[in-house]
Amino acid sequence: MDNITINIDGKEIQTQEGEYILNAARANDIFIPAICYLTRCSPTLACRICLVEADGKQVYACNAKAKDGMNITTSTETIETERRAIMEVYDVNHPLQCGVCDQSGECELQNYTLEMGVDSQSYAVKDVDRSSHDWGHLHYDPGLCIVCERCVTACKDMIGDNSLKTIPRGADALDTEYKESMPKDAYAMWNKLNKSVIGLTNGTDVLDCTSCGECAAVCPVGALVDTEFMYKSNAWELKQIPATCGHCSAGCQIYYDVKHTSIDNPEDKIYRVMNEWNYVSLCGAGRYGFDYQNADVTKDDTAFAKAIEAFKKADTIKFTSTITNEEALILENLKEKYGYKLVNKEAHSFQKFLHDYSDISGTRLYGSDLKEVAASNFIVSVGTAIKSDNPNARYALNNSLTVNKGAALYFHPLKDPIVDEMSKNIMSINHKPLQEETVLYLILDLFADKEKLPKEIVDYLATFHTMKTITVEETIKEKVIEIVTETQMDADTGEEHEVEVEKSKMVPKKISKEVEVDENRLLELLSAPANFSENLEKFLKKKDSFSLIVGPDLYNHPNSKNLARLVALIEKYANFKLVMIPTLTNTLGVSLINELSEDEGQYSIGYNTQGDFTLSALGDGDLDMPAINQQEGTLTSINKRVNPTNAALSYGGYVLKDIANALGLNAEYTIDYTKDLPVTKGFKAENFDSLPNYYTNAGEEIRGYELKNMGRRISSDESVEQIDEAMKIDGNIVYLANPVRQFSDFTNKATNLDEEIGVYISEEFLNNSELNAGERVKVKNENGEITTTIVSDNKIAGDVVCLPTFDSKLNSEALFSGYRFTSASIERV
Ligand code: SF4
Ligand code: SF4
Ligand code: FES
Repeated sequence: MDNITINIDGKEIQTQEGEYILNAARANDIFIPAICYLTRCSPTLACRICLVEADGKQVYACNAKAKDGMNITTSTETIETERRAIMEVYDVNHPLQCGVCDQSGECELQNYTLEMGVDSQSYAVKDVDRSSHDWGHLHYDPGLCIVCERCVTACKDMIGDNSLKTIPRGADALDTEYKESMPKDAYAMWNKLNKSVIGLTNGTDVLDCTSCGECAAVCPVGALVDTEFMYKSNAWELKQIPATCGHCSAGCQIYYDVKHTSIDNPEDKIYRVMNEWNYVSLCGAGRYGFDYQNADVTKDDTAFAKAIEAFKKADTIKFTSTITNEEALILENLKEKYGYKLVNKEAHSFQKFLHDYSDISGTRLYGSDLKEVAASNFIVSVGTAIKSDNPNARYALNNSLTVNKGAALYFHPLKDPIVDEMSKNIMSINHKPLQEETVLYLILDLFADKEKLPKEIVDYLATFHTMKTITVEETIKEKVIEIVTETQMDADTGEEHEVEVEKSKMVPKKISKEVEVDENRLLELLSAPANFSENLEKFLKKKDSFSLIVGPDLYNHPNSKNLARLVALIEKYANFKLVMIPTLTNTLGVSLINELSEDEGQYSIGYNTQGDFTLSALGDGDLDMPAINQQEGTLTSINKRVNPTNAALSYGGYVLKDIANALGLNAEYTIDYTKDLPVTKGFKAENFDSLPNYYTNAGEEIRGYELKNMGRRISSDESVEQIDEAMKIDGNIVYLANPVRQFSDFTNKATNLDEEIGVYISEEFLNNSELNAGERVKVKNENGEITTTIVSDNKIAGDVVCLPTFDSKLNSEALFSGYRFTSASIERV
């Protein structure tokens, strides 16, 4: 987009051609009132308060695009009159309950009513019964709702659930006199508002969504609130701690809102999690899964002494990626000093995948991030159950589909109704497990520049194509001549007589014809839908910006090396921007900082995982450790940012740094390690306290810093292995995946996240089997067996069942030998 100059209220500002006036103003700290507009979403024109004058014409700033040289005035007498009338209308029949309303103190209705100087009411309409609704984790009070539709927009354009809509209010029509007497925009807004309230798209009063809470977060008033937070605190009592969510690799910026626990207990407690919803959307785990701290821990000197003894005895440290970069560095330093094997299987797989990818790409890291995915208009997703692996990747995909009128291909064995219902421009190809290589070859085949792609690969791809003659039926228009009898009048005598005349007309005719078609066996191997090519052709119209998201299914695949190389070739020769989803919270950080080993030795320390001596932030080990919400440190996100996080809650016990000090390292605070993170891997030598954590008004992410994507010497070898068509998994397919909102034992510990542990089975599968939800079953294969309960899951479809990892006691991993799919029998106990 071209840079342009516009003038707002006499101030010259730079923006981009096509940017909305409102966004351009906000980016330059110019205030234009706006209620219904959400950055990153489509304008809905529900509130009309953002009226401005652009080149002498009244326009809505959230919907009008800036043009070079445009002159904008944000306030005129007419506009001020409209705005004041709009606010008066919003105040009609609004209950006077600010004293007990959750939003009081941060309510946009309060703020704008004051801003517009509303001190009297000119309008009235009879109120109708607008009773409250309990929608599970949300409470909706239509009495407070100003029908700005921000909740509807966030759910549709950002989240992709599409669970909310406007429904009829059942109110009396407005007095017709208002049409003449009121300011035009205020009347139009009121007329629409008076007809609606918010309801559920499923037509019931039971909200069945992915429970992210984003709709309540964006609500400008107290109409839609989190049930758990309701009546717990006034906004002004809460202290905001800027942090980074510790649950997945998205690394969303959050605020922990804390205050004392009760009159008797001055200890801080987290009451809610807030986000800068204009720039980042949270999932339910980030929003509701906040009370996972390791509480009431004091310094246990005996346990600490035992820990030091255990470290002296150990040859292995096993750990998960739910640790900060600083802790990862402490472990690496201990490894260098004492020769420990550092074992973290999932991070090791990701590390190897990145390494194999970089052999061809020449860079240590993938080239893109989720911001670019959201800005693109054609997305391909491979090897990830996107909604649960990284909710922000799902939101970026949905945002591209809805706001950029994008299109997408979603390759995955697990059928996902949430993905399928995002848009009619997304096509799911539910291929079989172990066919990820075939998928990547198909992408090369469809999109790579064959002039540049290595010749052996071009030749190999050609072997999948055959020209075939097929007979197709077609309807053509054929000219036929009809003899019709017409009555004509003799011009001389005036007598009528009948004559036969020839008339031609076009009639439809079915014909068969033979055509040559290119049959692509890759599509057949993947069981792609019959209309794949036809749909793809439609999808690709007017698309110019392509992204590829790849996920954890690839990192543990038996042919992961080949997959990593194919992914690099796609990025290089098919002009796709590439994002990889790191498996867990800080998998990317760990994979850069730690030199990991494949196998453990004789005696292990476990950190947040069972070892011979266990350090645990879950409070179930031999020595307690702080959870992420009790720590200062940094986490490396999917967007390749090193984001700072702060301690929301106090922690009284020993930390990893104390153990390291006792073993001969030396640091006063854990965050003393921040500046020592390895610059050779792209980190910066920056002090923790200098790391910012906020968004600008222009939506720029000023958080920590971006990793430098270090170059690697590349080999000229771009060879890849061919598809092993014999590789398959027979039987009942089981997939290692969590339900949405659950990631680990930490989310499992959070009281507001209530997903059950068990084997997750689709309603479709249960209907076609003898099994029922709630029954105890044995899931068994040659690797092991586990006994658990059936959970019916309407967020998945088809025959693939899911075993979650969010409760490590279930030990789901025991059934898998690396790759995320396996086969197992499921029998009633
Ligand atoms: S519930 Fe809130 S966000 Fe939704 S329409 Fe009502 S006021 Fe707007
Ligand atoms: S909680 Fe999330 S998914 Fe559910 S209705 Fe609200 S925005 Fe939509
Ligand atoms: S913000 Fe523009 S119409 Fe509401």
